[in-house]
Amino acid sequence: MQMSNRISGFQCSPIRRLVPMARAAKERGVHVIHLNIGQPDIKTPKEALDAIHNYKDETIAYGLSEGEVGLRKALLEYYKKMGVDDLTIDDIMITTGGSEAIQFTFITLCDPYDEFIIPEPYYTNVATFANVAMVRLRPVTSSSSNGFILPSIDAFEDKINKKTMGILLCSPNNPTGHVYTEEELLALLEMCKRHDIFLVVDEVYREFCYDGKKFTSVLSFPEYADRVICIDSFSKRFSMCGSRIGAIVTKNKEFMENCLKMAQARLCSPAVEQVAAEAALSAPQSYIDGTVAEYEKRRNILVSEMQKIEGVRVNMPKGAFYFVADLPVDDAEKFAIWMLNDFSYKGATVMFAPAEGFYWTEGLGKCQARFAYVLNENELKLAAECLKVGLKTYRKEVMHV
Ligand SMILES: Cc1ncc(COP(=O)(O)O)c(C=O)c1O
Repeated sequence: MQMSNRISGFQCSPIRRLVPMARAAKERGVHVIHLNIGQPDIKTPKEALDAIHNYKDETIAYGLSEGEVGLRKALLEYYKKMGVDDLTIDDIMITTGGSEAIQFTFITLCDPYDEFIIPEPYYTNVATFANVAMVRLRPVTSSSSNGFILPSIDAFEDKINKKTMGILLCSPNNPTGHVYTEEELLALLEMCKRHDIFLVVDEVYREFCYDGKKFTSVLSFPEYADRVICIDSFSKRFSMCGSRIGAIVTKNKEFMENCLKMAQARLCSPAVEQVAAEAALSAPQSYIDGTVAEYEKRRNILVSEMQKIEGVRVNMPKGAFYFVADLPVDDAEKFAIWMLNDFSYKGATVMFAPAEGFYWTEGLGKCQARFAYVLNENELKLAAECLKVGLKTYRKEVMHV
């Protein structure tokens, strides 16, 4: 039986494809520390869980394709608190996770073989979403040597051609942890205006900014509102990844009208979870503040421990809960597999995501890996110890250096 040619060109997620090896390690009794995936261990707000437990409807019915009114009204209030007060509920569409929001955006804006410019490394699943929509990604490479700051505007401008429909950013960034500044966003918006293209910003980690760094939302530039699309999600902010609730926010009416065709075809986003998401928005500010403080502490622990390991280069990330590290290995994927199949220290090993799949440009990221600091302090300390011993052993026994 034959599969499509296009599916064979899709990648298996570098975040998940080593999972069978992790499972086998666990079956051998090895404790696998998962730094490969952004699955927070923080509790979902009680308000959201209570809403699920108290759900009274006797039929879980289809809801509105654009999302429930109560949730969209609650989101309006949330954006108002962020300083964005010119939205209406018609500017918000609820999606089945930020993932669907990205897919809808590509399909609404692009014909097959149209192009989107994206700084690399980028959130790896975007490559599959682009493949589904038959959109070509045109990468602009950011570098670990300067903390993955935004490449120059000229580098973006060089990639623009008649097929370019927009730029996709992620801020705070997965996988690099970079948080784009107001000046960086403004420079990009001016360029987008010059070329009449869209700026799409994935802000699913909006609250996760550290060291007192100020976050600037792409929604806070009213003069460019028509070309701005914001991708949002409840997954990370409220530790409710499995609920699959996200949103698209834009003041561009034509975009919303067309995007609704996709939303109508998939009928609606999960109904009970929308009730939970609305309730999550009523959680006290202390929930978010506590979560962010916890991640900042975890970042400090894992980054400082990894910076002590010989040959490892890590910049202190400013946001989200990931960083990309340069590792002193011949091939980060080979090392990741070896860590799962052939290594343990104190009964444990570490799983991380090799970074090559976060780049479009072939050959880049081969000696880099993405680490997610979503586990508690003790696990992170043990993970750093495992990595230190693992790297030393791998270099000696496999690389013979
Ligand atoms: C940058 C980024 N965008 C979107 C998503 C997808 O989130 P969701 O769970 O809302 O689909 C993720 C998930 O890890 C992410 O890291």
